Amino acid sequence: MRDFKSILIFGGLGFIGSEYILKARKRFPDAKIINFDSQNYATSLHTKELLDTIENYIYIKSDIRHKDQVISALKEFSPDLIVNFAAESHVDNSIESAEVFIDTNIKGTFNILEATRLIQDDGENCILHHVSTDEVFGDLDLEGTAKFSETTPYDPSSPYSASKAASDHLVRAWARTYKINYLITNCSNNFGPRQYTEKLIPKAINLLLDNKKVPIYGNGKNIRDWIYVGEHVDRLIDLQMSSAKNDTYLIGGNNELSNVEIIKEIVSIIHPSGQWNLGEYIAFVDDRKGHDMRYAIDDTKMRNFLGKVDKESFSDQLQSTVTWYQKNLDWWE
Ligand SMILES: NC(=O)c1ccc[n+]([C@@H]2O[C@H](COP(=O)([O-])OP(=O)(O)OC[C@H]3O[C@@H](n4cnc5c(N)ncnc54)[C@H](O)[C@@H]3O)[C@@H](O)[C@H]2O)c1
Repeated sequence: MRDFKSILIFGGLGFIGSEYILKARKRFPDAKIINFDSQNYATSLHTKELLDTIENYIYIKSDIRHKDQVISALKEFSPDLIVNFAAESHVDNSIESAEVFIDTNIKGTFNILEATRLIQDDGENCILHHVSTDEVFGDLDLEGTAKFSETTPYDPSSPYSASKAASDHLVRAWARTYKINYLITNCSNNFGPRQYTEKLIPKAINLLLDNKKVPIYGNGKNIRDWIYVGEHVDRLIDLQMSSAKNDTYLIGGNNELSNVEIIKEIVSIIHPSGQWNLGEYIAFVDDRKGHDMRYAIDDTKMRNFLGKVDKESFSDQLQSTVTWYQKNLDWWE
């Protein structure tokens, strides 16, 4: 089993990155954990305070768009594992204004790769784990049964997914040309605690708790494969501890639900004895430009590689997510 002395995380104040730090603290008890994050609009002071209680943990407020800041962090901490979660992550924002997505997701990844090259040149060996999305593959037919796999060609639809696709390409090119050790994982839609309220599930929970309707794009039939953030992070760490290197793995939840179906599930948790009435809980709005129809993941490669892993039920995961938001209504205030 691989172990690490110094783990540098880019974007660890975010939704998935913070879950990663909490779990990595337990699974890599001896490692120094360094969190390099610019603390953008999608982070919460409460998340920062929660992480500040962790032992052998350092937070650096810095920005991956500045190469000198990335280089100085890597030189100072000589990590043997680098995990990159840092990104602009919201598709709607990328449609409104793409430039920061190009700067952070593409140029920022370039800066991380260049800095990684430098510390490898100093004789330090490390693995760069680049965390990416299934959205790089575009979308699938609504009625079909096809799924994305590691061999699916890239065909991104939005400025966000194009910027993530570009960053994946950079990682593979730098690995091949400059012999950087890497892992890329492409995961489906995550849900769970501490996700900023612009994303569908936390937005829906907050609106429904406030007795308001949830705005849903188009006809609400678009399908996403939902995975609990803790499950995603467990698989990231399983792969890091394994012998996996210079390879790509898809990670999915095997929970395909349309947007209307996911709202119905949340309503049934918040109003357990109520009757489902679509018009009472959903307001359909103009469709998102270029809206992907369906995502689905075939993660056979990862499952075969890791063997049997524990899996909680989706309804328990959704229930605990709703409970978390009920108890933490002030997380973003
Ligand atoms: N949320 C999902 O469903 C999902 C699914 C698959 C993959 N991903 C990928 O996982 C990663 C994390 O996603 P998330 O949902 O936690 O996003 P998030 O928006 O919650 O977190 C992103 C983090 O990156 C930081 N960041 C942004 N720009 C930065 C910069 N220039 N310099 C330093 N830090 C910066 C932010 O402050 C934030 O803490 C992203 O790369 C995303 O593409 C997300």
